[in-house]
Amino acid sequence: MSRDQKFFDMYSLVIGVLVVIALAIFIFSAKISEITQGVYTRDVAEYQADLAERIRPVGQVYLPGEEQQSAAPTVEVPVEPEPVATVMSGPQVYNKACITCHGTGLAGAPVLGDAAQWVERIAQGADTLKQHALQGYSGGIGYMPAKGGQADLSDAEVEAAVDYMVVESQ
Ligand code: HEC
Repeated sequence: MSRDQKFFDMYSLVIGVLVVIALAIFIFSAKISEITQGVYTRDVAEYQADLAERIRPVGQVYLPGEEQQSAAPTVEVPVEPEPVATVMSGPQVYNKACITCHGTGLAGAPVLGDAAQWVERIAQGADTLKQHALQGYSGGIGYMPAKGGQADLSDAEVEAAVDYMVVESQ
């Protein structure tokens, strides 16, 4: 065996051992990364979704009309209770809307409790009085504005006030 041949054998052996070591290191590192990061066994899309989830911002801004895109905590908005339509009683309506004129006789209004001023009016009948109170009336003495000028009163409320005024003025 020549010296060259010996050198070549030795050289091949060393190269071979190095290749084996390199392969072993490659396989070992691949195994490690598979265990720690799971890159090789998992779907890339799934991996990216996980990554996006880990690095997503803490808060997000939604403009009105935009759809919420992640499971952000929803704020419970307390349901506003429906406003209860309160119906005022006759005396309540009178004190609110009629007393200004009918308490004092202002503008010629027949005064509450003054039977003499009311007797002829009451004789017209409750329906006529209510109609005059609802729609406004002028009998030549003064001007009675429709619903006493308070258009937000319901018909029933004004009618209740008329009933009250009639009872009080007989
Ligand atoms: C701005 C003053 C004024 C207010 C407010 C007012 N009235 Fe009168 N009301 C009058 C006057 C004036 C008359 C008399 C009109 C006439 O006979 O010429 C009258 C007359 C009436 C009459 C008699 C109608 C008839 O046929 O003789 C009734 C009933 C009446 N008012 C009810 C009410 C009620 C109910 C309210 C409250 C919701 C009210 N009024 C608020 C001025 C007012």
